[in-house]
Amino acid sequence: MLVCICNGIREKDFRTAVREGASSPCSAYARIGHRAKCGQCTSFARSLIESERATA
Ligand code: FES
Repeated sequence: MLVCICNGIREKDFRTAVREGASSPCSAYARIGHRAKCGQCTSFARSLIESERATA
């Protein structure tokens, strides 16, 4: 599943960035080598961060 369509960021890669310390969508995207563009993915990205933290 894609988290960010603009950058083609996959959920697997996003979750890895969060586990490695990213605490916001922007910091996770930066770890993957991208940055937010349209911003429509940020709400979903934040929910994934909360989900990842809950399972940590
Ligand atoms: S969908 Fe992520 S910046 Fe557009």
